Amino acid sequence: MAYRICLIEGDGIGHEVVPAARRVLEATGLPLEFIEAEAGWETFERRGVSVPEETVEKIMASDATLFGAATSPTRKVPGFFGAIRYLRRRLDLYANVRPAKSRPVPKSRPGVDLVIVRENTEGLYVEQERRYLDVAIADAVISRRASERIGRFAFNLASRRERKLLHAAHKANVLPVTQGLFLDTVREVAQGFPGVSFKDIIVDNCAMQLVMRPEQFDVIVTTNLLGDILSDLTAGLVGGLGLAPSGNIGDRYAVFEPVHGSAPDIAGKGIANPTATILSAAMLLEHLGEEEAARRIEAAVDKVLAEGPHTPDLGGTATTEAFTEAVLRAMA
Ligand code: NAI
Ligand code: MG
Repeated sequence: MAYRICLIEGDGIGHEVVPAARRVLEATGLPLEFIEAEAGWETFERRGVSVPEETVEKIMASDATLFGAATSPTRKVPGFFGAIRYLRRRLDLYANVRPAKSRPVPKSRPGVDLVIVRENTEGLYVEQERRYLDVAIADAVISRRASERIGRFAFNLASRRERKLLHAAHKANVLPVTQGLFLDTVREVAQGFPGVSFKDIIVDNCAMQLVMRPEQFDVIVTTNLLGDILSDLTAGLVGGLGLAPSGNIGDRYAVFEPVHGSAPDIAGKGIANPTATILSAAMLLEHLGEEEAARRIEAAVDKVLAEGPHTPDLGGTATTEAFTEAVLRAMA
């Protein structure tokens, strides 16, 4: 029986990096069936909705989804909502998993192998803002239920890794009610995982430690906004946005995507770095239990990153296609 994979290119360089990752997935030789779906700004302009219902149905009928990137306008457009944020909420993709691992490129620090597990459904991302004259207020929602399941997810992940170490990054010293509930709940979850070493760390110190000594971290669990910021920091430690993969994972569905956006400045030129999307495809296979194929893809990507050719973001002149073909040769 074949795995059913839903592919959503989205906007901008999504049209370039998702087809590249598809070729790499096909080269694994695994039985895969691809279903294409649409979402994002171009979809909104054409159809008046950024995520059509049939796209949600296709994701639900698939074993996993690979998403490219979607453009969000900077001005407020009536009826528009961000595609990936909508899917996270609609499909209850509560864990945002963002690995940062050293890559053989000059811009990457050595010795880094960590994963940020970011709560993906609440915190400040409930988007409840209001303004009274010259004062504006945003709500941050933290629930025991969401903190417990993200804590459990992070402990399960940490228990499968070699170092079995989990940090909870928080700001409970300033926000003892909301951040305190998150921290206390994760501490309770820790009782059920005696095999994992658990530490808590205040987020600002965590940011500094990540820059000074990133090799001390294994898995870091944190709330939504803090995880958004820390995971861009960790992407920057190991080579930047062109290399950073991610997964949005729930109990029933999972959507994998590069951390980067639609890159309108280089879209259509055929020079986007497909590495982040290819590594997201490897995470997707790992999620399906195909560890060996995932490792094979990762090894091939590292070989090409070490030996070239490189796309312009890494100082080279290779096209998306030339880079992808080098990865395919490295897999053969
Ligand atoms: P961006 O990630 O699209 O681009 C930032 C910079 O990094 C640009 O100079 C771009 O050329 C470069 N870059 C990004 N990915 C690259 C790749 N694979 N290869 C080579 N260079 C790459 O972020 P930006 O410019 O802030 O946002 C552009 C659009 O993307 C916006 O509409 C934004 O809303 C959307 N966006 C979507 C995301 C998603 O779909 N998950 C995430 C972030 C932004
Ligand atoms: Mg971000």
